[in-house]
Amino acid sequence: MALVQVGDLRLNVVERGRGKPLLLVHGYPLDHSMWREQLDDLAGAYRVIAPDLRGFGASAVTSGVVTMEQLADDIARLLDALNVSEPVVFCGLSMGGYVAWQFALRHRSRLARLILCDTRAAADSPEAAAGRIKTAERVIAEGAAVVADTLLPKLFAPGTFQHQPQIVEDTRQVILTTKPEGIAAALRGMAQRADVSSRLREIDIPALLVGGELDAISPPVEMRQITSQMPRARFVEIENAGHMAPLEQPAPVNAAIREFLRG
Ligand code: MLT
Repeated sequence: MALVQVGDLRLNVVERGRGKPLLLVHGYPLDHSMWREQLDDLAGAYRVIAPDLRGFGASAVTSGVVTMEQLADDIARLLDALNVSEPVVFCGLSMGGYVAWQFALRHRSRLARLILCDTRAAADSPEAAAGRIKTAERVIAEGAAVVADTLLPKLFAPGTFQHQPQIVEDTRQVILTTKPEGIAAALRGMAQRADVSSRLREIDIPALLVGGELDAISPPVEMRQITSQMPRARFVEIENAGHMAPLEQPAPVNAAIREFLRG
């Protein structure tokens, strides 16, 4: 792990391996450790770069609102700081996917391929956005446990709770150690994020979409819909996985990523 100065922020980054750059961008309210099953596995063939986004993990926290555009720009500046000039493969899960859309739209020349795991293209409904603003206030007042308690049941497939409880417990610990200001800022940013559905056709690079069969937040039907609107995309559904497919079922996820990157 290394702290990298990116403008006026310090971002924590884990790097493994050598080769073409592959960015792994975590979901909310997590950190790079959600990619632990991908980091070493993919490092044989790629320079794998897994940052903690602003507000998460060991990275600096900024309060107020953190937009998906800002997070995408942070990544572009991080690549500069790491001297990565060749186009990257950007793999993002859920909120990491919202950041990936903005990276694709704002930093197109820096992108070779996209991998979108368990994510959405639509914006929040007004009700969902209002709910996030309320949750942001509660997190500041009561702490990160508010989010852990409400979000964890939605993140995993039933089989994960039954057969891999350690994954759930590890994820709880990550959430509980995340700073409330960082969680609240991302919630406000997600609440105001743009609907990119009408811009999917513009993203005409090769794209892989990966989604858990039992994902309750970004279900396969929605992932398939996104795939059908992208010119060069394909979808792989992961059995017995929920919203955290790369953590719950790493073998088929890693196989899908490898096959996509070979093609
Ligand atoms: C995530 O996993 O990043 C979140 O579920 C995204 C969201 O709350 O929309």
